[in-house]
Amino acid sequence: MDKINYDGKVAIVTGGGQGIGRMYALELAGRGAKVVVNDLGVARDGTGTDTSAADKVVDEIISAGGKAVANYDSVATMDGGKNIVKTAMDTYDKVDILINNAGIIRDKSFMKMTEEEWDSVVNVHLKGAFCVTQPAVKVMKENNYGRIVFTASTSGLYGNFGQTNYGAAKMGLIGIMNSLKLEVSKYNIKINTVAPTAWSRMTADVFPPEFEAKLNAQFNEPMVLYLCAEENTASGHVFTMGAGWYGRTAIVSGDGICIGNAKRSISVEEIKENFKKISDVENKREHDSALGMFEYMGPLLS
Ligand code: NAI
Repeated sequence: MDKINYDGKVAIVTGGGQGIGRMYALELAGRGAKVVVNDLGVARDGTGTDTSAADKVVDEIISAGGKAVANYDSVATMDGGKNIVKTAMDTYDKVDILINNAGIIRDKSFMKMTEEEWDSVVNVHLKGAFCVTQPAVKVMKENNYGRIVFTASTSGLYGNFGQTNYGAAKMGLIGIMNSLKLEVSKYNIKINTVAPTAWSRMTADVFPPEFEAKLNAQFNEPMVLYLCAEENTASGHVFTMGAGWYGRTAIVSGDGICIGNAKRSISVEEIKENFKKISDVENKREHDSALGMFEYMGPLLS
């Protein structure tokens, strides 16, 4: 197998100071990329700041002979996002790869959740991806090249008790990806989303202790690095992974049923009568864009 390398590529890893992001930063640098290690150095709930998180990973990369620079901005503001990209431009003059990985949690059951707990989580994960990705895409478009990864979660894809804020923010990233992939496809920019699973400080009190080694964060790294490689041509996909299992997760629609003739009104009783067929996803299909829905409505619209 030809070895995949990132020679000459410039990569930004947000939240690269520890956990899964650290794995991405180290391996990208080990395979030739120049890496901007962004990390605000916050606690798991987003409080505090500490520049040593990013510095330690940069030191590790440099002592192993690689190239890296630290950035300590928050992803959650436009100024922060612009400055992260500016760090890449000032130091290495371009951005080829962006891994949006920074994250926090503020778990609380929905009825007890405060506005502050909602906003802080949505700001880091969802707004943060906008704040960093927009200036990065500007540069990528100019160079006609880019590989972007968003980090979602099975908590958003499927749900997890106490994580309505986190789950909503994570699913929002898939919404950004679905439209952005269409807007940038002609510039050779590929965007994908991953839902990782890893033992980290974020999950240390969630998983049983015996999973610590088996859920090593490293197992997430090769999938994300592949998505960031020139060899990858996939775009607009979601990949779920953990412990060495990798699979694609897709949003699908069932065949459904056409009721009426697009002229007469339709009653709630007709929905009740056809609910089984409406709910059926046995014969499922994926769609590249919202226009896919017209395939189903075709007989009614023609
Ligand atoms: P972690 O807590 O070990 O690392 C997250 C890093 O992001 C920290 O170093 C933190 O300082 C940094 N960060 C937080 N807010 C920031 C901000 N505003 N600006 C810049 N940096 C900031 O977490 P872990 O487990 O490595 O998670 C990485 C990503 O993967 C997160 O987006 C998380 O939500 C996601 N994820 C993790 C899962 C897991 O099983 N560990 C499961 C699903 C998703």
